[in-house]
Amino acid sequence: MSKIETDILVLGSGIAGLSFAIKTARQIPDRKILILTKTIEGESNTRYAQGGVAAVWNPDKDNFEKHIADTLDAGDGLCKEDIVRIVVEEGPQRVREIIEWGARFDKEKDQDAYNLAREGGHSEHRILHYKDLTGWEIQRALMQEAALYPNIQVLEHYFALDFITQHHLGRMVIRVTPGIECYGCYALNKQTNAIDTILSRVTVCCTGGAGQVYKATTNPVIATGDGVAMTYRAKGRVENMEFMQFHPTSLYNPAGESPSFLVSEAVRGHGGILKTAEGEEFMHHYDARLSLAPRDIVTRAIDSEMKKRGTDCMYLDCRHLDMKDFMEHFPTIYDKCLKIGVDPAKDMIPVVPACHYMCGGIMVDAMGRSSINRLYAAGECSSTGLHGANRLASNSLLEALVFAHRISDDVCAHIQDWDVKTGVPDWSAEGTTDPQELVLITQGLKELKEIMSYYVGIVRSNLRLKRALDRLHLLYEETEELYRTSTVSPQLMELRNLLTIAYLITRSATHRRESRGLHFTTDYPGQMEFREYSVL
Ligand code: FAD
Ligand code: SIN
Repeated sequence: MSKIETDILVLGSGIAGLSFAIKTARQIPDRKILILTKTIEGESNTRYAQGGVAAVWNPDKDNFEKHIADTLDAGDGLCKEDIVRIVVEEGPQRVREIIEWGARFDKEKDQDAYNLAREGGHSEHRILHYKDLTGWEIQRALMQEAALYPNIQVLEHYFALDFITQHHLGRMVIRVTPGIECYGCYALNKQTNAIDTILSRVTVCCTGGAGQVYKATTNPVIATGDGVAMTYRAKGRVENMEFMQFHPTSLYNPAGESPSFLVSEAVRGHGGILKTAEGEEFMHHYDARLSLAPRDIVTRAIDSEMKKRGTDCMYLDCRHLDMKDFMEHFPTIYDKCLKIGVDPAKDMIPVVPACHYMCGGIMVDAMGRSSINRLYAAGECSSTGLHGANRLASNSLLEALVFAHRISDDVCAHIQDWDVKTGVPDWSAEGTTDPQELVLITQGLKELKEIMSYYVGIVRSNLRLKRALDRLHLLYEETEELYRTSTVSPQLMELRNLLTIAYLITRSATHRRESRGLHFTTDYPGQMEFREYSVL
């Protein structure tokens, strides 16, 4: 066990964490920035982003008002309009910066202009992309840029466990306690198995999403909602959690595959059409924008057609497209289809919805400040108000860049106001021993995913939500007992964190007595004037 001190602690090395660190390292080169990441630096949701970054780029055709209108429309009445304006208007400058740091985006043939793609819910072509590997390219460029700053240190295989607050100094802290402060976190060094106390003047949580709470997800295994669960345990505010986004088109692989491979929405933007197994279009029954309607609508349409027909998937027809062009734009998707025996030139691509994105998260203000002093949050783990009830495609990477920048400005302006706390005790492992039966953890995780997938999925009802809460409660009691008696492991902590996420989603869904955006319940199929965020 050691104590590590730093000026700024960042949890996570995706687009939010790395872009925040780079900005801040430039502004205050004499301050030490420590990034913890739970596996390797390059593993994140960011790395798998396919479609790209939405930004108003072509002023002849596009403008801020159009991007704002599309975002508000997708968000189904729950977006915070001031935040939408901030992200849309500041976005292009943030994208220019990552281009300066070396991120490449595809250009038109023999031209200097960027090739702009279109995705569901966008009225214009405005998605900058690097083939179907945009996230990989951004992650690469950010890691390369971050490595140039001697005041940034990245600690890999460090698993953040809990934020340190006054609670750890012996004070009683409840959700309504005023002035809760974050002094850093306890983190498990996965290489030595020691739990270190990491103390900082300020902490920025960039731990990404929680797709692993469902059986089928496009998210990698790191996406277990750790930062959101840690904030909730530290008595911070979390909001909007009922809005878990299911992507309409993950690749249906009859052999089973986890995580699910994504077939980017950009394929539909490129001309791919959703069809039944018999080759009939069906989206005209649901929305005038057909295959390019916002994600919540397309996902529900696919789900409803699958249920009606009793099939395991629907299809994306690309056979009419120029295949050379398709392969240039979507080389990874094309190769992946071939690997499972689907030739997009001859066969329709089988697709099925999968959990993809967490619209809610740690409640933050316009500068990324959470309800806990000295704790900021950016990227997918945060809830800024941009996405409302349903995120517009490719707005996530943009939001992360804009908020990382805003937080950097705020942190640089206030860093001298905060000190490193003294007197923080080491992590106590008293009364714990190595778990005898790991199956209790692995089986618990399976049960959790089953509960969430069957009862709190794309279509919900009061009865299903109640069942989910009852079963989650039992699982929670059992897991807490295990936690009290077992030495800490990443598997156990991830199960605990995912249980908290499951509880937050289900509780928020229970509160929302209407159907809006991604939250659809058969008990309240219409909308009410109730438009507030559910804050827990
Ligand atoms: P992440 O990139 O997920 O990074 C989280 C980091 O936190 C990781 O480094 C992780 O290891 C670390 N971490 C987590 N928990 C801990 C812990 N306890 N201790 C230490 N470290 C921890 N969005 C778009 O805008 N456009 C797209 O085209 C797009 N395509 C996507 C395709 C796929 C397949 C997926 C899964 C997502 C896609 N998204 C897209 C969403 C977008 O990629 C993510 O929302 C975004 O990258 C999140 O960035 P982030 O920095 O917040 O988190
Ligand atoms: C995709 O490429 O379809 C994903 C885009 C996103 O999640 O914003």
